[in-house]
Amino acid sequence: MIYEEENKIPDILPDILKEKSPLDEENNLNLRPKRLSEYIGQEKIVETLKIAIEAALQRKEPLDHVLFNGPPGLGKTTLAHIIASEMGTKIITSSGPALEKGGDLMGILTHMEKGDVFFIDEIHRIPKVVEEFLYPAMEDFAVDFIFDKGVHARTHRYRLEPFTLIGATTRAGLLSSPLRERFGITRDLDFYNEKDLVRIVKRSSAILEVTTEEEGAYEIARRARGTPRVANRLLKRVRDYAQVRAEGKITKEVAMEALALEGIDEHGLGETDRKLLKTIILNYKGGPVGLEAIASTLQVESDVLLDVVEPYLLKSGFVIRTSQGRKASEKAYAHLNIPHKGEPGLFDKRRL
Ligand SMILES: Nc1ncnc2c1ncn2[C@@H]1O[C@H](COP(=O)(O)OP(=O)(O)OP(=O)(O)O)[C@@H](O)[C@H]1O
Ligand SMILES: [Mg+2]
Repeated sequence: MIYEEENKIPDILPDILKEKSPLDEENNLNLRPKRLSEYIGQEKIVETLKIAIEAALQRKEPLDHVLFNGPPGLGKTTLAHIIASEMGTKIITSSGPALEKGGDLMGILTHMEKGDVFFIDEIHRIPKVVEEFLYPAMEDFAVDFIFDKGVHARTHRYRLEPFTLIGATTRAGLLSSPLRERFGITRDLDFYNEKDLVRIVKRSSAILEVTTEEEGAYEIARRARGTPRVANRLLKRVRDYAQVRAEGKITKEVAMEALALEGIDEHGLGETDRKLLKTIILNYKGGPVGLEAIASTLQVESDVLLDVVEPYLLKSGFVIRTSQGRKASEKAYAHLNIPHKGEPGLFDKRRL
C-alpha cells in the first residue's frame, strides 16, 4: 500500500526522460531541496506556501489541502516533502494507482496523526470508489464505514485526526470537479527559466562536489527542457565525461562535448523529440495530426507523449496545438533543416 515510486515511463524513451526508477530517486535524494528557503524558482508558489504555512503554524492547525499540477520533474514531490518538514510533521506517501480499494485508503487515513501530510502522487489515477471515501475525509476529517449490505446496511462515521492532503498530478483536467474543489490551494508548476536552472545546476554541482564554471552550468541549463530533474541528470552525465576526459572540471566546452555525445541538441531535444517532429513533418505533411496517430507511428503510448514528451515541445514552440491536432511550427522545420513548403522557402525561391 505504501507506495514505492514505480518506473512509469517505458523503455522506448531516451534515458534523459526516464529517470524515475526507485534507485535514481534514491540517488537524487540529496539533490532534493529540503526547505522552502533552498527551493529555487517558482517564486509565486513558494510565497503562497510560506504564508499559508506560517499562518497554519500560528493557528496550530494543519495546512489546507494542496494540489500541484504540472509536467514531470518540476518539483511536485519535492514540494510535498518540503511542506511536511516546514510543518514539522510526518509525510505518508502513496499514489493513485496504488490505492486500489477503499480499504487501502482507510488503513492509511485511520493511522494518521494530527497534522500529518498524506501525499498522493498521480492523484488523477485514483479509482472512483476510493475517491468517494476521500471526500468526507478531506472535508470533515471523517470516513464512513459501511457494515452489512442491502436493507441491513449501516454506516458508522469514524473521526480522523485533521491532516493535510497533498495531491500531485500531471493532468489536473482528469480530476473530477468534486475532488478538485476540495483542495484549498491549487497551483500549476511551470517550466523553469534558464536563470533558475543555472542556479539549480550550480547547487547540485556543489552537493556532488564537482567544479562547474558559470558557462558550463549555462550549457547544461539551456538544454534541460525547463526541468530540474533533466538538469540534474544532464549534470551527472557531464560530470562523468569531465572526470574521464577533462580532469573533472565542467567548462563550457566540456559540457557541450558531453551533451553532444548524449544526443542532446542545442535546444535540449533528444532523439524522441526529433522523431516526433519528423513524424509530423514527413509522415503528416506538417500536420495537423492527432496525437493518437503520432503515437502509433512512433509506437509510443499516447499518454507518454501527452504527459512527458509534448509539454516541452509546446512550451518551446516546436509544436503547435490546434483544434484539429498537432502541427510542426516553422521553428521545427528550421531546427531540423527541412524546407517548409507552405512558405516561400528555398524551393519556391529557386523556381521563381
Ligand atoms: N526548485 C528546485 N530546486 C532544486 N532542485 C529541484 C527543484 N525542483 C525539483 N528539483 C530536483 O528535481 C528532481 C525532480 O523533482 P520532483 O521529483 O519533485 O518532480 P515531480 O514534479 O514530482 O515529478 P513527477 O511528476 O515525475 O513525479 C528532484 O529530485 C530535485 O532534485
Ligand atoms: Mg513526483
